[in-house]
Order: sequence, then structure tokens, then C-alpha cells
Amino acid sequence: MTFWRNKTVLVAGGAGFIGRHLVRAILEAGSKVYVLDDFSTGQEGPLKTLDQTNLTVLTGDISQPTTLPQVDIIYNLASPASPVHYQSDPIRTWKTNILGTLQLFDHAQACNATLVQASTSEVYGDPLSHPQKETDWGHVNPVGPRACYDESKRAAETLLMDAVRTLGADIRIARIFNTYGPGMTVSDGRAIPNFVAQAKSGKALTIHGDGTQTRSFCHVSDTIDGLLRLGEVAAARGEIFNIGNPVENTIFEIAQEIVTLFGDGNDIVFEGRPIDDPQRRRPDIKKAESVLGWAPKVSLRAGLLSLLDLEEPVLRDIL
Ligand SMILES: NC(=O)c1ccc[n+]([C@@H]2O[C@H](COP(=O)([O-])OP(=O)(O)OC[C@H]3O[C@@H](n4cnc5c(N)ncnc54)[C@H](O)[C@@H]3O)[C@@H](O)[C@H]2O)c1
Repeated sequence: MTFWRNKTVLVAGGAGFIGRHLVRAILEAGSKVYVLDDFSTGQEGPLKTLDQTNLTVLTGDISQPTTLPQVDIIYNLASPASPVHYQSDPIRTWKTNILGTLQLFDHAQACNATLVQASTSEVYGDPLSHPQKETDWGHVNPVGPRACYDESKRAAETLLMDAVRTLGADIRIARIFNTYGPGMTVSDGRAIPNFVAQAKSGKALTIHGDGTQTRSFCHVSDTIDGLLRLGEVAAARGEIFNIGNPVENTIFEIAQEIVTLFGDGNDIVFEGRPIDDPQRRRPDIKKAESVLGWAPKVSLRAGLLSLLDLEEPVLRDIL
């Protein structure tokens, strides 16, 4: 971790779920962090619980012109990530991922900084290959309700890889697969916090679809490890990596596991499947293993149990 001593890092979206974990890890490793966030889905409260000595929080929208500090590394995590949020204002999602990424890229160039871009497994859409390798071009409905997110993340990748090719820019792209862990909020509609909240309150767990669709859930501590390595490892420059856990489960299996750990024989009920919801998701992580020396360590059961380790008041906040 010596790499992470005395760096100055801008974390756009640092008040969000993954961003807060990343900010904490970078501060603990001995660097200075600026958070840039518009708090559209993020929360300032948890950032206030961190040591403030090397932390500065800037309020701003990455798609709007903003004066930013000189930094060594920029992490661009600023984007709504849950369908509930990114579909609620699709044009804003576009502006964030396209204009916002462009502005952060320009700033990275002006600072001669490394830019680590949080992309997503959604660039693979409803994938035709399985597991998904970084070379898969994706299978995305360009005009469906998910496209504002999938296609704007794809367009951001296009911009950044053009900059790698034409300018030799120091850009590294993480295609993050579903991540879960402490700090998620129920209101953002993602499966694990929803299921845990329903299980704990004695309600039926609601699956959208028949539950046969698969996902590969990665504990946030593993995702953060991958993101840090992406910023650190020189050979990651100009490259794209899947960051996700290759252990694949059906959504029904995940719901059953959550009933076992958090519930008391809760029913599981099925509702309509969202349009263009992908059927299968599993990352091929050979590239991250060989170049970054990274692989996830936390099993689904251990990761879910990590939610139970928390103090009750914190758990209530999370759930
Ligand atoms: N969580 C996952 O499973 C997952 C999976 C794939 C990709 N990702 C990517 O990782 C990143 C972080 O995801 P997350 O789960 O922490 O989401 P999140 O919604 O919890 O956090 C996003 C943060 O970005 C901020 N933000 C949004 N638009 C902004 C804007 N225009 N200007 C400034 N700040 C803005 C929000 O306020 C929030 O703090 C996103 O880019 C997302 O696309 C996440």
C-alpha cells in the first residue's frame, strides 16, 4: 500500500455507496481525498464519520463546469447506479456519464493525472457470451429504458479509449459487476438490500421475474481492492477490466439464502420482470487476475453475514 501514501485523489461520486468505501480506504492508506458529489443519490452523513484531516468535500455536478483541485488520480464513480435512479431522469443520466466524464477527463489531462473510470457490466447488456470477457462487444437495446445508463456508460468508454489511442492518456476502466455490502440503502431498489429489508421485517421477498435470471454479486471490500489496484498497477494503463465475483447464482437462490440468514421462513413472491433485464451475468476475471493480481475473496454467505456484524443502529441506517 506504499503507493497510496501522500497521493492527492479526487473521488467523483465519493458520497455514494462504493465511493464512501473507496474514500475511507484511500484516507486510511495515507492519501488526501477530495470528494466531488452532487448528493443526488449519495449521503454526506457517513463521510462526516471519517477522519476529516485529509478529506475535503466539494458539492457539485460533474456535468457542470467546476473548478477542481490539482490531483494525482481521479476516480469517476459519479453516476446513478440503480435502475430506479438512472431511469427517473434519463437525460440527466446521459449528461452525467457523457458530459461529466468528458469534464473529468479534461481535468485529468490538465493535471497529468490518472483517470479510473467506473464503468459497468451493463455495457454487455443481455449478453450473448458467457461468462463475459472484456472483448465481448455487448448486446444492448439502444433505445430501451435501460439504455440511458448502458449506452452512456458505453459512450464514456468510447471517449476514454479514443483518448488512450490518440493522446496516450492514462486511463483505466473498471467494468464493475453487481456489488453489495454495508452502506446500501433500501430506497435505491437494488436486490440484496431489498431482500434483506423484507426478510428482516417479516415480509415476503419480491423477485422481479421468475428468479431464474443469474447475477454474480461481489462484496464491496473486494470491489474496492480491485479499484485500488487499478489505480496503482502501471500495466493497467489504457486497459479495461471486469471487476466482479465469478460465482454465479440465480436470484431465487440469493433470496433463499437471505431468508435463511435474515428471515424466518418468509414467502418469496414473483412480480413482472423489468424490460431488457439481462438473463445471465458472470464476469470472466482472468485479465484482472493476471494483470492486477486481483480476485475476490469474500463468499456470498460471508458477505451477507458482514451485514449482521454491524451494530443495530448502523444496520437500521443501512437497511
Ligand atoms: N453498485 C454496483 O453494483 C455497481 C455496478 C456497476 C457499476 N457501478 C458504478 O459504480 C459507480 C458508483 O455506484 P454506486 O453503487 O456507489 O452508486 P450510488 O448511486 O450509491 O453513488 C453514486 C454517487 O454519484 C453521485 N452523483 C450522481 N450523479 C452525479 C453528478 N452528475 N455529479 C456529481 N455526483 C453525482 C451521487 O450523489 C452518489 O453519491 C457508478 O458509476 C456506477 O455506475 C456500480
